Amino acid sequence: MIARNPATALDGNGLARDGRPPLLRLLAMARPLRGRLLGAAAAGAAATGCGVALLAVSGFLLARASQHPSILAISVAVVAVRALSVGRGVFRYLERLASHDVAFRVLAQVRVAIWRRLEALAPNGLVLFRSGDLLARLVSDVDATQDLFIRGVTPVVAAALVGGATVAGCLLILAPAAAVLAAGLLTAALVVPLAGAAVARKAARAAAPARGRLAATVTELLDGAADLHAFGAADAALARAEVTDAELTRLDGRTAAASALGAGSMSAITGITLWAVLVLGVAATGAGTLSRVPLAVLTLTALAAFEAVSALPAAAIQLGQARVAAGRIAAVTDAPDPVIEPARPRALPPGPFAVQLRDATVVYRPGGPPALDRVSLDLPPGRRVALVGANGAGKSTVAAVLMRFRELASGAALLDGHDLAGYAADDVRSVIGGCPQDPYLFAATIRDNLRLARPAATDEELAAAAGRARLLPWIESLPQGWDTPVGARGAAVSGGERQRLALARAFLADPRLLILDEPTSHLDPTARRALTTDLLHATEGRSVLLITHELDGLDQVDEIVVLDHGRIAEQGPHQQLRRAGGRYQRLCEHGY
Ligand SMILES: Nc1ncnc2c1ncn2[C@@H]1O[C@H](COP(=O)(O)OP(=O)(O)OP(=O)(O)O)[C@@H](O)[C@H]1O
Ligand SMILES: [Mg+2]
Repeated sequence: MIARNPATALDGNGLARDGRPPLLRLLAMARPLRGRLLGAAAAGAAATGCGVALLAVSGFLLARASQHPSILAISVAVVAVRALSVGRGVFRYLERLASHDVAFRVLAQVRVAIWRRLEALAPNGLVLFRSGDLLARLVSDVDATQDLFIRGVTPVVAAALVGGATVAGCLLILAPAAAVLAAGLLTAALVVPLAGAAVARKAARAAAPARGRLAATVTELLDGAADLHAFGAADAALARAEVTDAELTRLDGRTAAASALGAGSMSAITGITLWAVLVLGVAATGAGTLSRVPLAVLTLTALAAFEAVSALPAAAIQLGQARVAAGRIAAVTDAPDPVIEPARPRALPPGPFAVQLRDATVVYRPGGPPALDRVSLDLPPGRRVALVGANGAGKSTVAAVLMRFRELASGAALLDGHDLAGYAADDVRSVIGGCPQDPYLFAATIRDNLRLARPAATDEELAAAAGRARLLPWIESLPQGWDTPVGARGAAVSGGERQRLALARAFLADPRLLILDEPTSHLDPTARRALTTDLLHATEGRSVLLITHELDGLDQVDEIVVLDHGRIAEQGPHQQLRRAGGRYQRLCEHGY
């Protein structure tokens, strides 16, 4: 049943946005594994069938044995009992193996698909999600969808096949009893699960988002612990987490109550049906139309038949949860693209290239003011341009546009004279990159954090990059040197060291256009001046866009562009702007 060469051609694209409900999209992802899923359903039905047949044959054996027949008369039943008990275990094992195998294969593909989507969306496409909530979607929501394969398919097929066969078998013994059994089974298989799912629906809908909120709140509590304590806000933040936690407990309680109601109703229906079957059977025996051995078989078969439907109420509730989880996953996979990838990307130019902005306009919020308003900028090969301006002037937005994190509302961004949108975003970022304004350090060693930019870098290349960022003496002075862990988000190093590490990482990546977004903002004034001087020295002859508030040393760059409320207020070399007596001069002299 389990193929030796499993079909692994699962395709994460099955999650792509289309008109189908998210749960059906997940089911469609298992299409290459349908053989296994059918095998699991067949094994499940066989296991349940063995269970029912075991009790039926046992009933026959006990009743017949009480009549003291010859051993030959019951030997087939004895063998059947053994075979059915072994078969039940084996089939159940195979069913679990195959259904979990399908579930985990699909789950792995779903996680990869979400991850690819997150990669494509980051950083600008994710501003609507809280990071803890994203983690909950990636972990617990994906986990919740496994019930679709484990509980959503096999028990339904087993219930339909075995329930139908059992009723048919009972029909041969006593028709009225079979009708009663059919009614009992249908109630247990349809009414109880649907009612349970309806009771749990509200809780199921609310629980997954609440779980996401709790994860997000806890993540933010941990990330912001220092600020919360500094402002005495820790208790209030904890109380907010407790409220979400209490809500989740209440919702889980509702789901558990619905499950318990289902289980209780199931026992009641089983008992009532059995009682009715027994009454009809005893009446038929009294009337002489049914002998005692078939009566025992009938009663025990009816009892066992409920095994086939016993899993359905819980399955219905879990399927409701899986539906909500699939919807939350779809919200991530269907999130609109922050930039549109070209169908047939253009190849990158082999040699040096110019980068230009032409009337580039960026609008973050529809109807809101533009963050960039018709900005034109020339970055020919080898030219160093500094971008200055007050907070919120649009400097980082220029970097986001050039690195293909953000689409233009109008105007154009050009690489080698061709629209930047015609190149694959990853290709663009392999040649235009550098150091973001808030660089992220991973909880790894200094070496690993640097190697992120170029995994194959040699120790000499690492040392050269660290040297250019004026970091080498510090690294060498550390007891663990390059193997020093920097802590989560670089918490175990100073703000300035963190920034220099990010700068060294940018130097190591060595893109053809290096964008440095405020590489000196965490440094003390002396270090800031020294690093700017070093930086300008280290980037001589290269294409650089330096976004900075540090104006000392800018006489060395080729051009200074002053941004003001998304517009270019002034541009030109340092001396010219100093003489012009405009915005730049005010920035130099008064700092505003
Ligand atoms: N993801 C976003 N969503 C909405 N608005 C944004 C977003 N990112 C930036 N903005 C807004 O766009 C404007 C320009 O932001 P940008 O980050 O480019 O400024 P900046 O010049 O880099 O400022 P700073 O010197 O503080 O880094 C600001 O008004 C900012 O609030
Ligand atoms: Mg900025």
